[in-house]
Amino acid sequence: AEEEVLGLLVGAVDQGTTSTRFLVFNSKTAELVSHHQIEITQEFPREGWVEQNPKEILLSVYECIEKTCEKLELLNIDRANVKAIGVANQRETTVVWDKITGEPLYNAVVWLDLRTQSTVENLNKRIPRNNNFVKSKTGLPVSTYFSAVKVRWLLDNVKKVQKAVEEDRALFGTIDSWLIWNLTGGTKGGVHCTDVTNASRTMLFNIHSLEWDKELCEFFEIPMKILPNVRSSSEIYGLMKVGALEGVPISGCLGDQSAALVGQMCFQDGQAKNTYGTGCFLLCNTGHKCVFSDHGLLTTVAYKLGRDKPVCYALEGSVAIAGALVSWLKNNLGIINRSHEIEELAKEVGTSYGCYFVPAFSGLYAPYWEPSARGIICGLTQFTNKCHIAYAALEAVCFQTREIWDAMNQDCGIPLNHLQVDGRMTDNKILMQLQADILCIPIIKSSMPEATALGAAMAAGAAEGVGIWNLELDSLSAFTMERFEPQINAEESEIRYSTWKKAVMKSMGWVT
Ligand code: G3P
Repeated sequence: AEEEVLGLLVGAVDQGTTSTRFLVFNSKTAELVSHHQIEITQEFPREGWVEQNPKEILLSVYECIEKTCEKLELLNIDRANVKAIGVANQRETTVVWDKITGEPLYNAVVWLDLRTQSTVENLNKRIPRNNNFVKSKTGLPVSTYFSAVKVRWLLDNVKKVQKAVEEDRALFGTIDSWLIWNLTGGTKGGVHCTDVTNASRTMLFNIHSLEWDKELCEFFEIPMKILPNVRSSSEIYGLMKVGALEGVPISGCLGDQSAALVGQMCFQDGQAKNTYGTGCFLLCNTGHKCVFSDHGLLTTVAYKLGRDKPVCYALEGSVAIAGALVSWLKNNLGIINRSHEIEELAKEVGTSYGCYFVPAFSGLYAPYWEPSARGIICGLTQFTNKCHIAYAALEAVCFQTREIWDAMNQDCGIPLNHLQVDGRMTDNKILMQLQADILCIPIIKSSMPEATALGAAMAAGAAEGVGIWNLELDSLSAFTMERFEPQINAEESEIRYSTWKKAVMKSMGWVT
Protein backbone atom coordinates (compact mmCIF):
# COMPACT_ATOMS: atom_id res chain seq x y z
CA ALA A 1 0.00 0.00 0.00
CA GLU A 2 2.95 2.31 0.80
CA GLU A 3 4.28 1.88 -2.75
CA GLU A 4 0.87 2.60 -4.16
CA VAL A 5 0.70 5.91 -2.27
CA LEU A 6 4.23 6.80 -3.40
CA GLY A 7 3.16 6.42 -6.99
CA LEU A 8 0.19 8.76 -6.83
CA LEU A 9 0.48 12.15 -8.48
CA VAL A 10 -1.60 15.31 -8.36
CA GLY A 11 -1.63 17.97 -11.08
CA ALA A 12 -2.26 21.70 -10.84
CA VAL A 13 -3.05 24.36 -13.40
CA ASP A 14 -1.50 27.70 -12.38
CA GLN A 15 -3.06 30.26 -14.69
CA GLY A 16 -1.42 33.60 -13.83
CA THR A 17 -1.48 37.02 -15.45
CA THR A 18 1.68 36.49 -17.47
CA SER A 19 1.87 32.72 -17.90
CA THR A 20 0.08 29.40 -17.68
CA ARG A 21 1.69 26.40 -16.06
CA PHE A 22 0.76 22.82 -15.41
CA LEU A 23 2.69 21.12 -12.62
CA VAL A 24 2.60 17.58 -11.32
CA PHE A 25 3.46 16.82 -7.69
CA ASN A 26 4.35 13.59 -5.91
CA SER A 27 1.58 13.12 -3.36
CA LYS A 28 3.88 11.59 -0.78
CA THR A 29 6.61 14.23 -0.67
CA ALA A 30 4.85 17.15 -2.38
CA GLU A 31 7.91 17.41 -4.63
CA LEU A 32 7.57 18.72 -8.15
CA VAL A 33 7.84 15.87 -10.67
CA SER A 34 7.26 17.61 -13.99
CA HIS A 35 5.89 20.85 -15.39
CA HIS A 36 5.43 22.99 -18.47
CA GLN A 37 4.96 26.75 -18.86
CA ILE A 38 3.65 29.02 -21.63
CA GLU A 39 3.72 32.83 -21.62
CA ILE A 40 0.38 34.63 -22.14
CA THR A 41 -0.13 37.77 -24.22
CA GLN A 42 -1.48 40.89 -22.54
CA GLU A 43 -3.11 43.43 -24.84
CA PHE A 44 -3.21 47.13 -24.04
CA PRO A 45 -5.73 48.42 -26.63
CA ARG A 46 -6.03 51.84 -24.97
CA GLU A 47 -4.32 53.66 -22.16
CA GLY A 48 -5.35 51.94 -18.94
CA TRP A 49 -7.04 48.99 -20.67
CA VAL A 50 -5.68 45.47 -20.17
CA GLU A 51 -7.17 42.51 -22.01
CA GLN A 52 -6.37 38.88 -22.70
CA ASN A 53 -7.74 36.37 -25.18
CA PRO A 54 -9.73 33.71 -23.25
CA LYS A 55 -9.10 31.18 -26.00
CA GLU A 56 -5.36 31.71 -25.88
CA ILE A 57 -5.55 31.11 -22.12
CA LEU A 58 -7.57 27.91 -22.61
CA LEU A 59 -5.29 26.58 -25.37
CA SER A 60 -2.25 27.28 -23.21
CA VAL A 61 -3.79 25.12 -20.47
CA TYR A 62 -4.41 22.23 -22.89
CA GLU A 63 -0.89 22.51 -24.25
CA CYS A 64 0.74 22.68 -20.80
CA ILE A 65 -1.14 19.52 -19.75
CA GLU A 66 -0.11 17.68 -22.94
CA LYS A 67 3.54 18.73 -22.71
CA THR A 68 3.76 17.87 -18.99
CA CYS A 69 2.36 14.40 -19.70
CA GLU A 70 4.92 13.91 -22.48
CA LYS A 71 7.65 14.89 -20.01
CA LEU A 72 6.26 12.38 -17.48
CA GLU A 73 6.58 9.67 -20.08
CA LEU A 74 10.21 10.61 -20.73
CA LEU A 75 10.71 10.01 -17.01
CA ASN A 76 9.03 6.60 -17.39
CA ILE A 77 6.10 7.73 -15.28
CA ASP A 78 2.64 6.65 -16.33
CA ARG A 79 0.25 9.61 -16.72
CA ALA A 80 -2.47 7.34 -15.32
CA ASN A 81 -0.88 7.99 -11.91
CA VAL A 82 -2.24 11.55 -12.01
CA LYS A 83 -5.32 11.12 -9.82
CA ALA A 84 -6.64 14.65 -9.41
CA ILE A 85 -6.22 18.15 -10.78
CA GLY A 86 -6.45 21.50 -9.01
CA VAL A 87 -6.87 24.93 -10.57
CA ALA A 88 -5.26 28.14 -9.28
CA ASN A 89 -5.89 31.28 -11.28
CA GLN A 90 -5.34 35.01 -11.60
CA ARG A 91 -8.35 36.41 -9.77
CA GLU A 92 -11.00 39.03 -10.78
CA THR A 93 -10.19 38.80 -14.53
CA THR A 94 -13.59 38.61 -16.18
CA VAL A 95 -14.90 36.52 -19.07
CA VAL A 96 -18.42 36.40 -20.54
CA TRP A 97 -19.09 33.64 -23.04
CA ASP A 98 -21.90 32.03 -25.03
CA LYS A 99 -22.93 28.69 -23.56
CA ILE A 100 -24.37 27.46 -26.89
CA THR A 101 -21.33 28.17 -29.08
CA GLY A 102 -18.68 28.15 -26.35
CA GLU A 103 -17.26 31.40 -27.81
CA PRO A 104 -16.10 34.25 -25.57
CA LEU A 105 -18.19 37.36 -26.29
CA TYR A 106 -15.32 39.76 -25.66
CA ASN A 107 -11.71 39.56 -24.53
CA ALA A 108 -11.08 38.84 -20.85
CA VAL A 109 -10.99 42.14 -18.97
CA VAL A 110 -7.93 41.78 -16.76
CA TRP A 111 -7.86 42.66 -13.05
CA LEU A 112 -5.40 45.52 -13.72
CA ASP A 113 -7.74 47.20 -16.24
CA LEU A 114 -8.75 50.79 -15.41
CA ARG A 115 -11.56 51.41 -17.92
CA THR A 116 -14.20 51.37 -15.19
CA GLN A 117 -12.71 54.29 -13.25
CA SER A 118 -15.64 56.67 -13.89
CA THR A 119 -18.18 53.88 -13.21
CA VAL A 120 -16.49 53.35 -9.87
CA GLU A 121 -16.61 57.06 -9.04
CA ASN A 122 -20.32 57.19 -9.82
CA LEU A 123 -21.09 54.05 -7.84
CA ASN A 124 -19.14 55.33 -4.85
CA LYS A 125 -21.35 58.45 -4.78
CA ARG A 126 -24.39 56.19 -4.37
CA ILE A 127 -23.08 54.35 -1.30
CA PRO A 128 -24.24 55.97 1.96
CA ARG A 129 -21.24 57.01 4.07
CA ASN A 130 -22.76 55.57 7.22
CA ASN A 131 -23.80 52.32 5.57
CA ASN A 132 -21.13 50.99 3.25
CA PHE A 133 -23.02 47.82 2.48
CA VAL A 134 -20.57 46.83 -0.29
CA LYS A 135 -17.66 46.75 2.12
CA SER A 136 -19.57 45.10 4.96
CA LYS A 137 -20.90 42.34 2.70
CA THR A 138 -17.88 41.75 0.46
CA GLY A 139 -14.89 42.99 2.49
CA LEU A 140 -13.87 45.08 -0.56
CA PRO A 141 -13.84 48.76 -1.52
CA VAL A 142 -15.60 49.60 -4.79
CA SER A 143 -12.65 49.58 -7.16
CA THR A 144 -11.77 48.93 -10.80
CA TYR A 145 -9.89 45.85 -9.48
CA PHE A 146 -12.95 43.63 -8.92
CA SER A 147 -15.12 41.76 -11.41
CA ALA A 148 -18.57 43.34 -10.89
CA VAL A 149 -17.62 46.63 -12.56
CA LYS A 150 -15.93 44.78 -15.43
CA VAL A 151 -19.13 42.81 -16.09
CA ARG A 152 -21.07 46.09 -15.86
CA TRP A 153 -18.82 47.56 -18.56
CA LEU A 154 -19.32 44.53 -20.81
CA LEU A 155 -23.11 44.76 -20.38
CA ASP A 156 -23.09 48.48 -21.16
CA ASN A 157 -20.69 48.43 -24.10
CA VAL A 158 -20.68 45.09 -25.92
CA LYS A 159 -23.77 44.38 -28.04
CA LYS A 160 -22.97 40.67 -28.28
CA VAL A 161 -22.99 40.45 -24.49
CA GLN A 162 -26.32 42.32 -24.20
CA LYS A 163 -27.92 40.05 -26.81
CA ALA A 164 -26.59 36.85 -25.24
CA VAL A 165 -27.94 37.91 -21.84
CA GLU A 166 -31.36 38.66 -23.35
CA GLU A 167 -31.36 35.28 -25.09
CA ASP A 168 -30.22 33.44 -21.97
CA ARG A 169 -27.01 32.30 -23.59
CA ALA A 170 -24.48 34.29 -21.55
CA LEU A 171 -22.30 32.86 -18.79
CA PHE A 172 -19.98 34.96 -16.63
CA GLY A 173 -16.91 33.64 -14.91
CA THR A 174 -13.49 34.46 -13.60
CA ILE A 175 -10.68 32.45 -15.23
CA ASP A 176 -11.30 29.39 -12.99
CA SER A 177 -14.93 29.17 -14.21
CA TRP A 178 -13.95 29.62 -17.85
CA LEU A 179 -11.35 26.85 -17.57
CA ILE A 180 -13.41 24.38 -15.53
CA TRP A 181 -16.46 24.82 -17.83
CA ASN A 182 -14.30 24.03 -20.87
CA LEU A 183 -12.24 21.25 -19.29
CA THR A 184 -15.39 19.46 -18.08
CA GLY A 185 -17.05 19.41 -21.49
CA GLY A 186 -17.85 23.01 -22.52
CA THR A 187 -20.91 23.12 -24.77
CA LYS A 188 -21.40 19.41 -24.09
CA GLY A 189 -22.31 19.66 -20.42
CA GLY A 190 -19.47 21.74 -18.98
CA VAL A 191 -19.82 22.56 -15.27
CA HIS A 192 -20.39 26.27 -14.65
CA CYS A 193 -18.91 26.83 -11.20
CA THR A 194 -16.42 28.83 -9.17
CA ASP A 195 -15.08 28.47 -5.64
CA VAL A 196 -15.64 30.69 -2.61
CA THR A 197 -12.21 32.35 -2.89
CA ASN A 198 -12.70 33.45 -6.49
CA ALA A 199 -16.32 34.43 -5.81
CA SER A 200 -15.12 36.67 -2.96
CA ARG A 201 -13.25 38.82 -5.51
CA THR A 202 -16.25 39.70 -7.66
CA MET A 203 -17.92 42.28 -5.34
CA LEU A 204 -21.17 40.32 -5.80
CA PHE A 205 -20.53 37.68 -3.14
CA ASN A 206 -21.58 37.87 0.48
CA ILE A 207 -18.57 36.58 2.41
CA HIS A 208 -20.69 35.88 5.52
CA SER A 209 -23.50 33.83 3.97
CA LEU A 210 -21.17 32.50 1.21
CA GLU A 211 -23.79 33.20 -1.45
CA TRP A 212 -24.28 35.60 -4.34
CA ASP A 213 -25.95 38.65 -2.86
CA LYS A 214 -29.21 39.91 -4.40
CA GLU A 215 -28.77 43.48 -3.13
CA LEU A 216 -25.25 43.70 -4.58
CA CYS A 217 -26.36 42.26 -7.93
CA GLU A 218 -29.12 44.88 -8.03
CA PHE A 219 -26.69 47.65 -7.08
CA PHE A 220 -24.26 46.70 -9.88
CA GLU A 221 -27.20 45.71 -12.15
CA ILE A 222 -25.79 42.27 -12.87
CA PRO A 223 -28.32 39.55 -13.81
CA MET A 224 -27.93 36.69 -11.35
CA LYS A 225 -28.69 34.11 -14.03
CA ILE A 226 -25.23 34.53 -15.59
CA LEU A 227 -23.34 33.79 -12.35
CA PRO A 228 -21.62 30.42 -11.76
CA ASN A 229 -22.51 28.04 -8.91
CA VAL A 230 -20.33 28.66 -5.90
CA ARG A 231 -18.61 25.58 -4.49
CA SER A 232 -15.98 24.92 -1.84
CA SER A 233 -12.27 25.02 -2.80
CA SER A 234 -11.87 21.25 -2.46
CA GLU A 235 -14.47 18.92 -3.96
CA ILE A 236 -14.98 17.12 -7.24
CA TYR A 237 -16.45 19.63 -9.72
CA GLY A 238 -16.34 17.30 -12.72
CA LEU A 239 -14.08 15.08 -14.78
CA MET A 240 -11.64 16.14 -17.49
CA LYS A 241 -13.39 15.53 -20.79
CA VAL A 242 -10.48 16.34 -23.07
CA GLY A 243 -6.79 15.73 -23.60
CA ALA A 244 -4.08 13.62 -22.04
CA LEU A 245 -5.74 13.47 -18.63
CA GLU A 246 -9.28 12.67 -19.76
CA GLY A 247 -11.32 11.15 -16.93
CA VAL A 248 -9.25 12.69 -14.09
CA PRO A 249 -11.36 14.62 -11.55
CA ILE A 250 -10.92 18.37 -11.21
CA SER A 251 -11.22 18.63 -7.46
CA GLY A 252 -9.43 21.77 -6.31
CA CYS A 253 -10.03 25.41 -7.15
CA LEU A 254 -8.60 28.51 -5.50
CA GLY A 255 -7.72 32.04 -6.53
CA ASP A 256 -3.93 32.02 -6.87
CA GLN A 257 -3.24 34.06 -3.72
CA SER A 258 -5.40 31.77 -1.59
CA ALA A 259 -3.69 28.79 -3.21
CA ALA A 260 -0.28 30.20 -2.21
CA LEU A 261 -1.51 30.62 1.40
CA VAL A 262 -2.45 26.92 1.41
CA GLY A 263 0.76 25.91 -0.41
CA GLN A 264 2.78 27.79 2.21
CA MET A 265 0.86 25.82 4.88
CA CYS A 266 -0.42 29.02 6.53
CA PHE A 267 -3.33 27.18 8.18
CA GLN A 268 -3.04 28.87 11.58
CA ASP A 269 -4.65 32.12 12.58
CA GLY A 270 -1.94 34.83 12.27
CA GLN A 271 0.23 33.09 9.65
CA ALA A 272 1.05 35.28 6.66
CA LYS A 273 2.66 34.95 3.25
CA ASN A 274 3.66 37.38 0.53
CA THR A 275 3.68 36.30 -3.14
CA TYR A 276 5.74 38.32 -5.62
CA GLY A 277 4.05 37.82 -9.00
CA THR A 278 2.74 40.37 -11.49
CA GLY A 279 1.59 42.21 -8.40
CA CYS A 280 2.40 41.49 -4.80
CA PHE A 281 -0.16 39.99 -2.43
CA LEU A 282 0.28 39.67 1.31
CA LEU A 283 -2.36 37.51 2.99
CA CYS A 284 -2.71 36.83 6.70
CA ASN A 285 -4.96 33.97 7.82
CA THR A 286 -7.52 35.25 10.34
CA GLY A 287 -9.14 31.85 10.89
CA HIS A 288 -12.92 31.64 11.07
CA LYS A 289 -13.13 35.34 11.96
CA CYS A 290 -13.92 37.91 9.33
CA VAL A 291 -11.59 40.77 10.34
CA PHE A 292 -12.38 44.16 8.81
CA SER A 293 -9.53 46.53 8.16
CA ASP A 294 -9.30 50.13 9.30
CA HIS A 295 -6.10 50.57 7.28
CA GLY A 296 -6.98 49.87 3.65
CA LEU A 297 -6.70 46.09 3.57
CA LEU A 298 -9.24 43.72 2.05
CA THR A 299 -11.20 41.06 3.88
CA THR A 300 -11.36 38.01 1.70
CA VAL A 301 -12.15 34.30 1.77
CA ALA A 302 -8.88 32.39 2.35
CA TYR A 303 -10.24 28.90 1.61
CA LYS A 304 -12.92 26.35 2.42
CA LEU A 305 -11.30 22.97 1.99
CA GLY A 306 -14.38 20.78 1.58
CA ARG A 307 -18.14 21.11 1.35
CA ASP A 308 -18.57 20.41 5.06
CA LYS A 309 -15.40 22.15 6.19
CA PRO A 310 -15.49 25.59 7.81
CA VAL A 311 -14.53 28.69 5.87
CA CYS A 312 -11.33 30.55 6.74
CA TYR A 313 -10.81 34.23 6.03
CA ALA A 314 -7.77 36.38 5.36
CA LEU A 315 -6.77 40.01 5.51
CA GLU A 316 -5.11 40.93 2.24
CA GLY A 317 -2.84 43.73 1.14
CA SER A 318 -2.84 43.89 -2.66
CA VAL A 319 -0.14 45.71 -4.61
CA ALA A 320 -0.89 45.96 -8.33
CA ILE A 321 2.62 46.30 -9.73
CA ALA A 322 5.62 44.22 -8.63
CA GLY A 323 6.96 41.78 -11.27
CA ALA A 324 5.10 43.90 -13.84
CA LEU A 325 7.56 46.70 -13.07
CA VAL A 326 10.48 44.48 -14.12
CA SER A 327 8.59 43.63 -17.33
CA TRP A 328 8.06 47.36 -17.90
CA LEU A 329 11.79 48.08 -17.53
CA LYS A 330 12.40 45.31 -20.07
CA ASN A 331 9.60 45.95 -22.59
CA ASN A 332 9.03 49.71 -22.33
CA LEU A 333 12.43 51.14 -21.34
CA GLY A 334 14.63 48.37 -22.73
CA ILE A 335 17.19 48.75 -19.93
CA ILE A 336 17.28 44.96 -19.48
CA ASN A 337 16.79 42.15 -22.01
CA ARG A 338 15.79 39.42 -19.58
CA SER A 339 13.95 39.88 -16.27
CA HIS A 340 16.70 38.38 -14.12
CA GLU A 341 19.19 41.01 -15.40
CA ILE A 342 17.63 43.55 -13.04
CA GLU A 343 19.55 41.89 -10.20
CA GLU A 344 22.92 42.42 -11.92
CA LEU A 345 22.12 46.07 -12.67
CA ALA A 346 21.02 46.74 -9.10
CA LYS A 347 24.09 44.94 -7.74
CA GLU A 348 26.46 47.17 -9.72
CA VAL A 349 25.47 50.20 -7.65
CA GLY A 350 23.98 48.74 -4.46
CA THR A 351 21.93 51.91 -3.93
CA SER A 352 19.23 53.91 -5.68
CA TYR A 353 21.28 57.05 -5.00
CA GLY A 354 18.20 58.91 -3.77
CA CYS A 355 16.04 57.85 -6.69
CA TYR A 356 12.49 56.69 -5.84
CA PHE A 357 10.15 54.92 -8.26
CA VAL A 358 6.43 54.75 -7.48
CA PRO A 359 4.97 52.31 -10.04
CA ALA A 360 1.35 53.47 -9.78
CA PHE A 361 0.61 52.30 -13.34
CA SER A 362 -2.90 51.16 -12.39
CA GLY A 363 -3.46 53.75 -9.71
CA LEU A 364 -2.50 52.63 -6.22
CA TYR A 365 -4.13 49.63 -4.55
CA ALA A 366 -3.71 48.88 -0.83
CA PRO A 367 -3.56 50.72 1.44
CA TYR A 368 -4.51 53.83 -0.62
CA TRP A 369 -7.09 52.62 -3.18
CA GLU A 370 -6.32 55.72 -5.21
CA PRO A 371 -7.17 55.35 -8.91
CA SER A 372 -5.93 58.89 -9.66
CA ALA A 373 -2.30 58.03 -8.90
CA ARG A 374 0.16 57.46 -11.75
CA GLY A 375 3.74 56.25 -11.85
CA ILE A 376 6.60 58.61 -11.04
CA ILE A 377 10.39 58.40 -10.82
CA CYS A 378 11.78 61.18 -8.63
CA GLY A 379 14.99 62.28 -6.95
CA LEU A 380 16.88 62.17 -10.26
CA THR A 381 20.22 63.95 -10.70
CA GLN A 382 22.72 64.03 -13.54
CA PHE A 383 24.49 61.20 -11.74
CA THR A 384 21.46 58.86 -11.90
CA ASN A 385 21.82 55.98 -14.33
CA LYS A 386 19.86 52.88 -15.28
CA CYS A 387 21.42 50.87 -12.44
CA HIS A 388 19.98 53.30 -9.88
CA ILE A 389 16.59 53.09 -11.56
CA ALA A 390 16.76 49.28 -11.47
CA TYR A 391 17.63 49.44 -7.77
CA ALA A 392 14.80 51.91 -7.11
CA ALA A 393 12.39 49.52 -8.88
CA LEU A 394 13.35 46.67 -6.54
CA GLU A 395 13.09 49.01 -3.55
CA ALA A 396 9.62 50.05 -4.75
CA VAL A 397 8.41 46.45 -4.50
CA CYS A 398 9.76 46.28 -0.95
CA PHE A 399 8.36 49.67 0.13
CA GLN A 400 4.93 48.74 -1.20
CA THR A 401 5.12 45.52 0.84
CA ARG A 402 6.15 47.58 3.88
CA GLU A 403 3.02 49.73 3.51
CA ILE A 404 0.74 46.69 3.58
CA TRP A 405 2.84 45.05 6.28
CA ASP A 406 2.36 48.07 8.53
CA ALA A 407 -1.38 48.10 7.83
CA MET A 408 -1.54 44.37 8.60
CA ASN A 409 0.23 44.81 11.93
CA GLN A 410 -2.13 47.64 12.88
CA ASP A 411 -5.22 45.63 11.96
CA CYS A 412 -4.04 42.39 13.57
CA GLY A 413 -2.91 44.02 16.82
CA ILE A 414 -0.10 41.50 17.33
CA PRO A 415 2.98 42.34 15.23
CA LEU A 416 3.99 39.59 12.81
CA ASN A 417 7.64 38.63 13.42
CA HIS A 418 8.69 37.12 10.09
CA LEU A 419 7.38 36.90 6.55
CA GLN A 420 7.10 33.78 4.39
CA VAL A 421 7.58 34.56 0.72
CA ASP A 422 7.11 32.88 -2.63
CA GLY A 423 6.76 33.73 -6.31
CA ARG A 424 9.19 34.13 -9.16
CA MET A 425 10.79 37.36 -7.95
CA THR A 426 11.99 35.66 -4.75
CA ASP A 427 14.91 34.20 -6.73
CA ASN A 428 16.30 37.74 -6.69
CA LYS A 429 18.58 37.78 -3.64
CA ILE A 430 18.99 41.57 -3.66
CA LEU A 431 15.21 41.94 -3.53
CA MET A 432 14.97 39.49 -0.61
CA GLN A 433 17.72 41.26 1.33
CA LEU A 434 16.15 44.66 0.66
CA GLN A 435 12.81 43.30 1.85
CA ALA A 436 14.35 42.12 5.13
CA ASP A 437 16.06 45.52 5.55
CA ILE A 438 12.93 47.54 4.80
CA LEU A 439 10.64 45.44 7.03
CA CYS A 440 13.29 44.97 9.73
CA ILE A 441 12.26 41.33 10.15
CA PRO A 442 13.57 38.03 8.75
CA ILE A 443 12.28 36.90 5.37
CA ILE A 444 11.76 33.14 5.03
CA LYS A 445 11.88 31.62 1.59
CA SER A 446 10.93 27.99 1.09
CA SER A 447 12.89 25.70 -1.23
CA MET A 448 9.51 24.96 -2.85
CA PRO A 449 8.92 28.08 -4.95
CA GLU A 450 5.68 26.75 -6.44
CA ALA A 451 3.44 27.47 -3.45
CA THR A 452 0.50 28.52 -5.64
CA ALA A 453 0.40 25.33 -7.68
CA LEU A 454 1.11 23.18 -4.64
CA GLY A 455 -1.83 24.75 -2.80
CA ALA A 456 -4.20 23.95 -5.67
CA ALA A 457 -2.81 20.41 -5.87
CA MET A 458 -3.27 19.97 -2.10
CA ALA A 459 -6.89 21.10 -2.33
CA ALA A 460 -7.46 18.66 -5.22
CA GLY A 461 -5.74 15.77 -3.46
CA ALA A 462 -7.66 16.35 -0.22
CA ALA A 463 -11.12 16.39 -1.82
CA GLU A 464 -13.77 13.92 -0.74
CA GLY A 465 -13.75 11.03 -3.19
CA VAL A 466 -10.05 11.62 -4.01
CA GLY A 467 -8.60 11.26 -0.51
CA ILE A 468 -4.90 11.38 -1.40
CA TRP A 469 -4.03 14.03 1.17
CA ASN A 470 -5.42 14.60 4.62
CA LEU A 471 -4.45 18.21 5.23
CA GLU A 472 -5.16 17.95 8.95
CA LEU A 473 -2.78 15.02 9.41
CA ASP A 474 -0.23 14.97 6.61
CA SER A 475 2.87 17.04 7.14
CA LEU A 476 4.03 18.51 3.90
CA SER A 477 6.37 21.08 5.36
CA ALA A 478 9.59 19.19 4.81
CA PHE A 479 11.06 21.86 2.53
CA THR A 480 14.25 23.62 3.52
CA MET A 481 14.05 27.32 4.25
CA GLU A 482 16.36 30.17 3.30
CA ARG A 483 16.45 33.11 5.72
CA PHE A 484 17.31 36.71 4.97
CA GLU A 485 18.06 38.70 8.14
CA PRO A 486 17.86 42.52 8.25
CA GLN A 487 21.33 44.05 7.78
CA ILE A 488 20.61 47.73 8.35
CA ASN A 489 19.32 49.35 11.50
CA ALA A 490 15.71 50.32 11.97
CA GLU A 491 16.57 54.05 11.96
CA GLU A 492 18.14 53.93 8.49
CA SER A 493 15.24 51.87 7.24
CA GLU A 494 12.76 54.46 8.61
CA ILE A 495 14.54 57.35 6.86
CA ARG A 496 14.35 55.58 3.49
CA TYR A 497 10.73 54.60 4.08
CA SER A 498 9.66 58.13 4.98
CA THR A 499 11.22 59.46 1.74
CA TRP A 500 9.29 56.78 -0.16
CA LYS A 501 6.09 58.04 1.48
CA LYS A 502 6.86 61.54 0.20
CA ALA A 503 7.25 60.13 -3.31
CA VAL A 504 3.91 58.30 -3.00
CA MET A 505 2.18 61.58 -2.13
CA LYS A 506 3.59 63.11 -5.31
CA SER A 507 2.17 60.27 -7.42
CA MET A 508 -1.42 60.99 -6.32
CA GLY A 509 -3.95 63.08 -8.19
CA TRP A 510 -2.38 62.94 -11.66
CA VAL A 511 -5.63 61.89 -13.28
CA THR A 512 -8.86 63.60 -12.37
O1 G3P B 1 -5.62 39.53 -7.91
C1 G3P B 1 -4.76 39.33 -8.98
C2 G3P B 1 -3.84 38.16 -8.73
O2 G3P B 1 -4.59 37.02 -8.50
C3 G3P B 1 -2.86 38.02 -9.86
O3 G3P B 1 -1.88 37.12 -9.53
O4 G3P B 1 0.14 35.78 -9.87
O5 G3P B 1 -0.88 36.84 -11.80
O6 G3P B 1 0.29 38.21 -10.06
P1 G3P B 1 -0.50 37.01 -10.39
